[in-house]
Amino acid sequence: MNDPLILSGKEPSQKIRGEIRKEIEELTSSGLRRPGLAVILVGDDPASQIYVNNKIKACKKVGIESFFYKLSSNITTEELLETVAELNSREEVDGILVQLPLPEHIDQEEVILSIHPDKDVDGFHPQNMGKLVARMENGFIPCTPLGIDLLLKHYRIDPKGKDVVIVGAGFIVGRPLSLLMLWRDATVTVCHIHTRDLKKHTLGADILISATGVPHLIKEDMIKEGAVVIDVGISKVDGKIVGDVDFENVKHKASAITPVPGGVGPMTVTGLLLNTLKAYKKRIKAHSTSTMKP
Ligand code: GUN
Repeated sequence: MNDPLILSGKEPSQKIRGEIRKEIEELTSSGLRRPGLAVILVGDDPASQIYVNNKIKACKKVGIESFFYKLSSNITTEELLETVAELNSREEVDGILVQLPLPEHIDQEEVILSIHPDKDVDGFHPQNMGKLVARMENGFIPCTPLGIDLLLKHYRIDPKGKDVVIVGAGFIVGRPLSLLMLWRDATVTVCHIHTRDLKKHTLGADILISATGVPHLIKEDMIKEGAVVIDVGISKVDGKIVGDVDFENVKHKASAITPVPGGVGPMTVTGLLLNTLKAYKKRIKAHSTSTMKP
């Protein structure tokens, strides 16, 4: 097999972020405020800290104002809910992101439910998840599934009619991604921890997407010749960042494959920026309508 197409997330991210920056410049040059994203980080998890820093840096580059809340790991659910409630009512905040995972003692479900659906740029609120099921365009699609969709579009890989196999059924990636791929008219299989014969399913994949966080779970003998392989995993092994896919061995069989890092990671952040811009435009439109003279 020839060398595969490397599906870098950097190139489409640069393009889309350039378009976002331009649109924000145009909107703010006519006197409007900038879009605003509130980012809440609870505790000191080093990986979460890096993700949050990346998101804040990316906001700045496109002209989104960020409001960063670093909260102690000892905070109670009630205290966190109060912070979210305050941000729900703040005019200049268009999006609210609570970085997951939260410490064990915090009721994650309550926190997700407390974010106003119009500011839920993570797309985790059941109202937005429901819109994904209903194929309603005016909801928020979770950032990683949205980023993968944009990555596939950029490289002109159409999931329509294809056998898409997703490994991992988590709340942040696998489950919403399965709905989005169904929306894109793929035939979707979702594998998870209780799947009896993983290889049987992955071998049938035209597009294989792995989101488990298990380093090098996907081996060469588990993929079909010519498959498109999307790796969502990010793990640290011996100080090195690796994905779910045994890249060096799998790449010879794949027609296209994402690198780790530099594949899906940047696309997730791009998805967040797009969702924040969408929230902002929706809110300024609603505001201008509500203050219009009859
Ligand atoms: N933790 C891992 N991925 C995500 C994400 O997309 N959003 C949030 N809020 N937390 C995460």
